[in-house]
Amino acid sequence: MRSTMRSTGIRLGRGRRRKRLASGSAMRAAAAAGALLLAACTEPTPAFTEPMTLGGVEVSAEVLSRGQKIYANHCASCHAVDGSGAGPAARHLSPGPRDFRTAEFIHKAGEGDVLPTDAELRHVIKKGVQGRGMPAWGALRDEDIDAVVHFIKTFSPRWQEPAGDPLREAEGQ
Ligand code: HEC
Repeated sequence: MRSTMRSTGIRLGRGRRRKRLASGSAMRAAAAAGALLLAACTEPTPAFTEPMTLGGVEVSAEVLSRGQKIYANHCASCHAVDGSGAGPAARHLSPGPRDFRTAEFIHKAGEGDVLPTDAELRHVIKKGVQGRGMPAWGALRDEDIDAVVHFIKTFSPRWQEPAGDPLREAEGQ
């Protein structure tokens, strides 16, 4: 009688332990999924670990990550996490912001599809575009503006083309 009880106790104990283990791993899986989801929400693009050459200039991973953070906090509401310009706060803006993914810019001196200079990008970000929904970001620190200028270039492969596009030069001859 005693021995049966003891063995039952052991079985129960094992059963309970196994159950605890199972729910423990389920919880770990749920936590991992939650962490992934959270990462997907707060970190839209993977963090930069390598420098990138943008517009012929090498930009460090630190600067790009800094720009990414500024962009997420201040710009993505309108310009969208993916740079498309379809952010929730831009829904009622007409015209809405350009698509950074195709490097469409209008606030530049160069004609056609010429890319804006860093000075032109800095200028429009600092001063904004009155009456067209682009706020002035003059209150941001210069190094933050520089970082976000570099970061928005990462949306389009056009900034990674070698400077002095030889194809276009050949066509122009
Ligand atoms: C409230 C919405 C909103 C926010 C927030 C916003 N923008 Fe804009 N932005 C716009 C709109 C709208 C335009 C287009 C203005 C126009 O049509 O002339 C624009 C234009 C621009 C342009 C010029 C694009 C071109 O066509 O030449 C740049 C660069 C830019 N924004 C960068 C930023 C950066 C960087 C931030 C964050 C620091 C930011 N914007 C935050 C709405 C916004």
